[in-house]
Amino acid sequence: MLHPNHQFHPLEVLPTTGEPILRLKGKGHENIVLTPPRARDAQYIVPILDDERVHPWISSVPHPYKLEDAEWWLGRVVPPSNAFLAELEALKDKTNPVIVDACPVRAIRELREDGSDVFLGDLVIDLAGQWWELEGSGFTEQEVPIRGEEPDIWTIGDYLAPSHHGRGIMSDALQTLIQEWAIPRMGVRKMVVTTLKDNKASVRVFEKCGFSFRKTIEDAIEVRGERRGVHVLEWNHG
Ligand SMILES: CC(C)(COP(=O)(O)OP(=O)(O)OC[C@H]1O[C@@H](n2cnc3c(N)ncnc32)[C@H](O)[C@@H]1OP(=O)(O)O)[C@@H](O)C(=O)NCCC(=O)NCCS
Repeated sequence: MLHPNHQFHPLEVLPTTGEPILRLKGKGHENIVLTPPRARDAQYIVPILDDERVHPWISSVPHPYKLEDAEWWLGRVVPPSNAFLAELEALKDKTNPVIVDACPVRAIRELREDGSDVFLGDLVIDLAGQWWELEGSGFTEQEVPIRGEEPDIWTIGDYLAPSHHGRGIMSDALQTLIQEWAIPRMGVRKMVVTTLKDNKASVRVFEKCGFSFRKTIEDAIEVRGERRGVHVLEWNHG
């Protein structure tokens, strides 16, 4: 069911919770959706971000990853997410969908036939902030950009439960996010993304979604006490 408020277009509504959802476009992934984050997600995030197939590739999380880490993170993202949903609700009488600075959905979930759903991961689009992501733009940091004015560069963060790796889910989720929300609803024209060096799966996901390789920077970032290299990829619309 399409969301009745056109400020959420083209999102649907999840009947069981009333949340806006973005359904993956790819064949075979009709039961995978993005929803807003939920405060009760913490217990499901922990085993994923603590898994050895995931945590080595995420620079921003502690290891071991504990319940309080997930609760702290949700405490940072859920209130702004709720505020953004309320903002879109309040705009419902405006004639046309407005251009916004965020996506109201990011938590990847699998919908089950009994109406329940399972947390599978996270996919977020955010303002680029690393110096190598802004390199060449003439800026070293970004405020919320004025559309079409430099630098207006966005970046992507993601992870998926290992139980679901290798099924094309993240490539589909990212492609859907770009086509259905980032381009039409955020006016995104340029993205620069970072993966830790040798993260072949992540590089491949970005390449499948139309990103091209820009460069590798050795010893770019400190991750849990160790210097790590990064790969940088870029995407330009049109
Ligand atoms: C990166 C990640 C999100 C990819 O999710 P996914 O749903 O498994 O990705 P997809 O199935 O859409 O695509 C993965 C691609 O990488 C390829 N791949 C996976 N491991 C690979 C490896 N070791 N070497 C080369 N290619 C690899 C797959 O074959 C596939 O490409 P293909 O479709 O051409 O065969 C997932 O692996 C993950 O959560 N990793 C840990 C966290 C992480 O790295 N996050 C990204 C931070 S930048």
